[in-house]
Amino acid sequence: MIKLDKYSYIFIANWKLNGNYSFLKDYYQKLNVNSDNCTIICSPSIYLKSLKGNNANLFCGAQDVSSYKEGAYTGELSASMLKDNNIDFCLVGHSERRQYFAETNNNVSIKSSNLIEENIVPVICIGETLEQKEKNLTEEILSKQIKDSIPKSANHQNALIAYEPVWAIGTGLTPTLEEINQVHKLIKNFDTRFSNFRVLYGGSVKSSNSKEITGLSHVDGCLIGGASLKVNEFNKIIS
Ligand code: 13P
Repeated sequence: MIKLDKYSYIFIANWKLNGNYSFLKDYYQKLNVNSDNCTIICSPSIYLKSLKGNNANLFCGAQDVSSYKEGAYTGELSASMLKDNNIDFCLVGHSERRQYFAETNNNVSIKSSNLIEENIVPVICIGETLEQKEKNLTEEILSKQIKDSIPKSANHQNALIAYEPVWAIGTGLTPTLEEINQVHKLIKNFDTRFSNFRVLYGGSVKSSNSKEITGLSHVDGCLIGGASLKVNEFNKIIS
């Protein structure tokens, strides 16, 4: 298991359904990883194996994993298969998975637990929609997501939480800095078992706002979508 505590910040690039071999080659030639921070690239799974170089602070992450361990489940990849391919992190419960693939808190919990058993760090994503925010339901929604999607076996050394307000993903909108910090504090204070968890922020992070976001006292890093596809922009964020 990766020693998460030794890193000041954790930055995760979520490429989503983007990239190809020539993109990958160019990206890795230009990528500038900083040794104080943990940098994780979540490419589409088929490219993961070709990413692993020798940089000790650069890791591969999958974007999803099956909730099944093995069997007749066409198209799925299990946690043990990811481990076999040197994958150290895996996103779980991203809002796009919840929205387009009907992923539930219970699925997220099973997947996270299977990953932890294989010594892969689940990055458990939570976040409220705009409608929920406008109805002042953020705290209620996050508390349910946390309670139902974080398995008992998760702790601050083997799992990460990512707070991604759904309305901030790919929209250019972000909560205010104060709101981000408050929500992260809330997450860490839901239960004493979460107080030492590293909580990453995601949703329209770019080089022009990453410094102020990571400068917040309860933010331990960022999960970056669109801006992580431009290697020069990503380099600025992780520097
Ligand atoms: P954007 O950075 O494009 O808003 O995406 C965020 C995200 O979904 C990362 O997982």
